[in-house]
This record gives sequence, structure tokens and C-alpha cells, in this order.
Amino acid sequence: MSETAQVISPGPALTAARTMIALEGVSKTYPGQDHPAVAELEFEVPEGAIVILIGPSGCGKTTTL
Ligand SMILES: Nc1ncnc2c1ncn2[C@@H]1O[C@H](COP(=O)(O)OP(=O)(O)O)[C@@H](O)[C@H]1O
Ligand SMILES: [Mg+2]
Repeated sequence: MSETAQVISPGPALTAARTMIALEGVSKTYPGQDHPAVAELEFEVPEGAIVILIGPSGCGKTTTL
């Protein structure tokens, strides 16, 4: 897949915060599809962080959520 969502790292203050959500190796292939909508996704969301997923239509934002 050429178009991917962007993950932007938190600033130093949030990096020090505890991880609230951790994704590791998260993939999803919808039935009947030969390519995954999301492949081997990894990121961490620190406690208190507000996170947005940015990317073009169809890159897997909703699937990730
Ligand atoms: N229920 C579904 N069945 C098959 N393919 C799907 C389904 N939902 C999403 N997709 C496909 O998965 C990919 C990612 O979709 P989606 O997560 O909705 O992207 P975004 O939210 O970033 O627009 C797209 O190629 C979309 O067509
Ligand atoms: Mg969407």
C-alpha cells in the first residue's frame, strides 16, 4: 500500500507519561481482500494524550480505530 497514515510522536512531556494504549503488530484483512487494510501497525498512546490519525481516504484510519 503506497498511502499510509502518519504517526507523529508526542513531545518530551508526554513521552515521559505512562503508556495508556499500545498497539503491536496489529493487522486487518477484510474478507475477500488480498491486501491488508492495516498491516503490522505499532504505536503507543501516552496517558493524557490526544491522538489524531492523519492520512488520505482509505489508508486505514477507521479500521485502526
Ligand atoms: N467492511 C469492509 N470490507 C472491505 N474492505 C473495507 C471495509 N472497510 C474498509 N475497507 C477497506 O479498507 C481500507 C481502509 O479503509 P478505512 O479504514 O475505512 O480507511 P480510512 O478511514 O482511512 O478512510 C480501504 O481500502 C477500504 O476500502
Ligand atoms: Mg474513515
